[in-house]
Amino acid sequence: MTADQIRAHIEPIRDEFAESRSLVLPALKYAQTEKGHLTRDDLDAVAEATGFSPAYVESVASFYDRLYLEPTGTRVVSVCVTLSCMLRGADEVWEHLCEREGLSHHGGTSEDGRVTIQEAQCLGYCDHAPCIQVDADETLGPLTPEAASQLMDDLHVAPAPEEFWR
Ligand code: FES
Repeated sequence: MTADQIRAHIEPIRDEFAESRSLVLPALKYAQTEKGHLTRDDLDAVAEATGFSPAYVESVASFYDRLYLEPTGTRVVSVCVTLSCMLRGADEVWEHLCEREGLSHHGGTSEDGRVTIQEAQCLGYCDHAPCIQVDADETLGPLTPEAASQLMDDLHVAPAPEEFWR
């Protein structure tokens, strides 16, 4: 994504922020919508558009676990591993999904490049524990390992989103 495109996105929202450094995060999120992750060129474009150094922009991008500095699968599945979900079986969901996708117990991206599985902290859906979130968009629960597996079947054949917003 170019600096001009990012500038066009952040200029209309500039007045919503007391400090201009707060624009870096929406600029990064917007830049990520194009490919689903941020390249070195994207980080440089955000730096140019916001007026902050590339090092500062990269420090922001590397802090947030929903900003990706490496390519991900077409869909990103975040499995909540915080207390309420753990107490209600998140471990089994996590291990089941990693195993069925042929991944280590650290998660990662399936061999066909369709799905990335990652751990997440509380998704604010504790009363539906254990839960998962797809593309930072749809939160689902409570899920059994079997129901989570069915969801993965669907994600492997679902069309890619028109825009990556994670
Ligand atoms: S602990 Fe999982 S959604 Fe809150």
